Amino acid sequence: MKTLNVELGERSYPILIGVGLMQDVELLKEHIPGQQILIVCNETIAPLHAQPLLDALSDRRVELLNLPDGEKFKNLETLNLIFTKLLELGFDRSCTLVALGGGVVGDVCGYAAASYQRGVNFVQVPTTLLAQVDSSVGGKTGINHQMGKNMIGAFYQPQSVLVDIATLGTLPDRELRAGIGEVIKYGFGLDLDFLEWLEQNMQALLDRDHQALTYAVEQSCAIKARVVAADERESGQRALLNLGHTYGHAIETHTGYSSWLHGEAVGAGMVMAADLAMAEGMIDKATADRCRNMVERCGLPTAPPKDMDSERFLALMARDKKTLQNNLRLVLMTGPGKSVCTSKFSHKNLTQLIDNY
Ligand code: NAD
Ligand code: GLY
Repeated sequence: MKTLNVELGERSYPILIGVGLMQDVELLKEHIPGQQILIVCNETIAPLHAQPLLDALSDRRVELLNLPDGEKFKNLETLNLIFTKLLELGFDRSCTLVALGGGVVGDVCGYAAASYQRGVNFVQVPTTLLAQVDSSVGGKTGINHQMGKNMIGAFYQPQSVLVDIATLGTLPDRELRAGIGEVIKYGFGLDLDFLEWLEQNMQALLDRDHQALTYAVEQSCAIKARVVAADERESGQRALLNLGHTYGHAIETHTGYSSWLHGEAVGAGMVMAADLAMAEGMIDKATADRCRNMVERCGLPTAPPKDMDSERFLALMARDKKTLQNNLRLVLMTGPGKSVCTSKFSHKNLTQLIDNY
């Protein structure tokens, strides 16, 4: 097992990564605090992965709540299900919420933990690749609004993140590929060595090789932990973790959070970001092609839906949380493994690029 730390002073916490970690009763007991525990999961994941947690914590009061499954349920109604359950159970402010699931469960559960009685204990047990490499780390929690993705939320760090690579064994292929989308962003946006490793090991990841998956999760979490420690609230370099996301969020909002997976939208978004960076003269064609090839190799879309015209696309992009005083800011590559967040790009180039797609 590998332990990484997110260094945030008194809010620092460990990320434990290993194969079969959910079978380690002592470890689960040690890292999940509290006598009143609500495991927040969903109807798909609970039958597959909840039992080891329920067994390990059976010496405390432990309850399970299943949320409806899907991005389209990442909303206020679902959040309220958690509050209602906590109140029905009579759980007090010493209770612990454990998010067992993907990014949807983690984001909604984390926001509930941030707000129930003004903040209770929170532990992440991510079960998708996307959640293991990204959403369970760094404390972004929240829900979608029908007018915009992740528009309501809070920064709220967990007390620990427990990553069992073995849980990926039941993950559908499409979800695995979507998770690799977020892994690629670390390589392309921030780390050339990792990018090169990904180019050599993409097939091993797609084949679910445990060693390759473990390495990818460790490297992604190490990069994210470093960035979050330096810029927890995204006033600077944390924005680079958003490579491809401004386009991606626009696609997700346009399609009603129902047909595109988040990682798929990020995949197409990264290709668009590379094309714009090329049009701006920030990267050469070989680098843009490198990005497209990688997204293509892991089976993710490389273009947005055909029914999005540039007017609609730009209106949705403008709602991005990086937009400041009507100034759209985008993450653009400046080379393989390097990126910047900038408002200095030609809007004509952006419009033309979307029109071309
Ligand atoms: P998800 O949570 O919807 O999970 C994907 C699907 O896989 C679901 O149907 C789920 O039930 C199923 N599933 C989960 N684990 C499984 C397993 N082990 N076996 C079988 N099925 C399993 O999607 P996701 O890709 O994990 O997360 C996407 C969400 O994460 C988006 O809402 C996105 O905005 C958010 N996100 C948040 C952050 C952050 O920093 N907080 C970062 C990236 C993404
Ligand atoms: N997923 C981007 C971030 O956590 O900042």
